[in-house]
Amino acid sequence: MSSKHASIKTAEVPGPKSAALGKMREQLIAKGVGIVAPVFIDKADGSILTDIDGNSYIDMGSGIGVTNVGHRPAEVEAAVKAQASRFIHTCFQVTPYEGYLRVAERIAKSAPGSGLTKSVLFNAGAEAVENSVKIARHYNKRTASFSFNHGFHGRTMMALALTAKEMPYKAGFGPLPETYKVEFAYCYRCPFDMEYPSCGVACADKIDEMWSSPQFEGKVSSLIGEPIAGEGGFIVPPKEFYPKVSKVCKKHGAVYIDDEIQTGAGRTGKMWCVEHWPGTEPDMLVSGKGIGGGFPVSATTGRAEIMDAPQVGGLGGTFGGNPVACAAALAQMDIIDRSLGNVNRINSLIIKRLNEMQGKFPVIGEVRGIGAMLALELVSDPKTKEPAAKEAGAVKNAALKKGLLILTCGTYNNVIRMHPSILMPQDMVEESMDLLEESFREVMS
Ligand SMILES: Cc1ncc(COP(=O)(O)O)c(C=O)c1O
Repeated sequence: MSSKHASIKTAEVPGPKSAALGKMREQLIAKGVGIVAPVFIDKADGSILTDIDGNSYIDMGSGIGVTNVGHRPAEVEAAVKAQASRFIHTCFQVTPYEGYLRVAERIAKSAPGSGLTKSVLFNAGAEAVENSVKIARHYNKRTASFSFNHGFHGRTMMALALTAKEMPYKAGFGPLPETYKVEFAYCYRCPFDMEYPSCGVACADKIDEMWSSPQFEGKVSSLIGEPIAGEGGFIVPPKEFYPKVSKVCKKHGAVYIDDEIQTGAGRTGKMWCVEHWPGTEPDMLVSGKGIGGGFPVSATTGRAEIMDAPQVGGLGGTFGGNPVACAAALAQMDIIDRSLGNVNRINSLIIKRLNEMQGKFPVIGEVRGIGAMLALELVSDPKTKEPAAKEAGAVKNAALKKGLLILTCGTYNNVIRMHPSILMPQDMVEESMDLLEESFREVMS
């Protein structure tokens, strides 16, 4: 089967070469590392992944929301080569270099709200999350760390404790550090059985109530929240939610940590997603994934008085803010800055097609998302909203066989998510939607 961009040449997907490496993987790699699409990649360019059997896929997963401006953009490749020919590693804490400062400067200039001027760079998102909680505790000398139900913050111990979903992320890995959860504004499945907007976004008020109780009064150190709950199902809260949440944090002296690891770096049409909701004033920002142009770099950024609380030597890491990763990040940030205008175009094209699909396939319970972060929540019955996880997995698998790589997510594993490159050309977006629709037709027939 071959279409304009996607092209499947082998009788089976995975093809024979990928299947052979798949056997090797089983012998050598721990079972806990799950694989979405068992096709081994030979090269990647823009939004196309080509596997070692010669099959090409339109990439709607972007390596889990990382390659926001596509694979291997020429400027990133050139910046990486130039940096690698100068030096590859020194460790910033041993002998510093300018690239680290320039990344921190770019983040400080664009950071949401006001006054988030100081950063520490790390490697993975989870590391930035861990450090944000450490720094907040050091700053306000409190210990209660909060996060939201449906949240995902990484796989290291504290990040995992803050993550909501038990299977597969947390099960069997305890005991985890003590943390507390509050409800997220998941309006499609309101935890308080209310309706937006008549609810008045009461979920944010409940946080205020909880923190005013004797158990928590004066004890809350931080609340970490994703603007859009990513792994939890691309859940978009109403526009009033985060402005209210940030006020509640201010009222209680809690550090509000904005986890933009998946939503940031231009993904939603703004550099940081909370910019969509004026009045949201984070005290700290954690970023990762998309800021590095495909290289591992993450950042914890915050107000100077918070970031300067820990003692000298209390923060850092051997590889954090690696020079090659910083060069890639700077090159990629230039591309994001000039490409944000594309996001609305991609959003309109995809939303239109997803809405049409919802009319054709009752299994699609809700279409949602902002910018180039879009999802379909599948339900076996629109009235009971029983999660249709099997169908979501079947659509994902059918799409791969047609040359479309999509991911699933969600607390109930029933959400199909798309985070394409914000530079994906119009005809490729259309083709990907054709392939998705064909996949639904095949699975639902
Ligand atoms: C919102 C959010 N926070 C933190 C993380 C953890 O990032 P990493 O996998 O780079 O450690 C992720 C990863 O998916 C994420 O989506």
